[in-house]
Amino acid sequence: MQHQLWRILLNGQLLTVPHSQITSLLHLGCGSAVWTAAVAAKLPETVVVGVDITPPANDFGLDNLTFVTADIEDPWSFIGEQRERYDLISIRVLVSAIRDWPSLIQRCFDHLKPGAWIEIPDVTIGTFSDTFDWQDESSPLMRWYQCYRRGVSTYGIDGFANQKRTSCLATAQFTRISEEFFTCYLDEDAVTDIRHKEIAQLTRQNMLGLLDAVTTACDTYAFDLFSCWLQWRGM
Ligand SMILES: C[S@@+](CC[C@H](N)C(=O)[O-])C[C@H]1O[C@@H](n2cnc3c(N)ncnc32)[C@H](O)[C@@H]1O
Repeated sequence: MQHQLWRILLNGQLLTVPHSQITSLLHLGCGSAVWTAAVAAKLPETVVVGVDITPPANDFGLDNLTFVTADIEDPWSFIGEQRERYDLISIRVLVSAIRDWPSLIQRCFDHLKPGAWIEIPDVTIGTFSDTFDWQDESSPLMRWYQCYRRGVSTYGIDGFANQKRTSCLATAQFTRISEEFFTCYLDEDAVTDIRHKEIAQLTRQNMLGLLDAVTTACDTYAFDLFSCWLQWRGM
């Protein structure tokens, strides 16, 4: 569902950076690898490597696609002795997972070829409203997000890391940095055109799944926020 949402937001594109010359691509935190496999299928001449703590359930059977099981915040032993460099590194939707963004982005820079790209599509942790301030406690959803941010911070994760992304990239000596923002409404009746209605439907479904999964999850990498941090065990 998230993959479909990103496809619509990016007008059907898998990548926003120029990709005709890309021969090697590293996807950090590839998750189910639906996106990784879609890129590998679209660019059959490109060597694509997906990395995740948990390997994907499907290997997709593509000759140019391999997976590595590793924690990307640990030293990158999976890179090999010759210190491989890539044409593109992608980090999608890891805002709630990474403790040390400056070090990760610096490491990406060190493993990119000169003139290569990094792409970091991500979400903002929070819901925003034309009528509520996001810190307004009268909205249960806003309160939930406040708990979420506090929960991730107990894991050393900065819920506002996205807002510091540009300066972080500049510090790592990336140049030609650009940032694009998309608004995803939760209420399809608040928008008129078909594209935004579809985005709103997917965003709401995704949000409801996230609320349930995150609130009830226990002992998965960074998502036992409520059961552990708020001590909501056994409810
Ligand atoms: C929200 S999913 C991202 C999905 C994927 N990037 C995509 O675009 O479809 C987050 C993934 O990051 C992985 N992850 C989180 N922290 C990680 C780490 N330190 N090293 C490697 N993978 C990590 C999780 O296992 C999970 O599969």
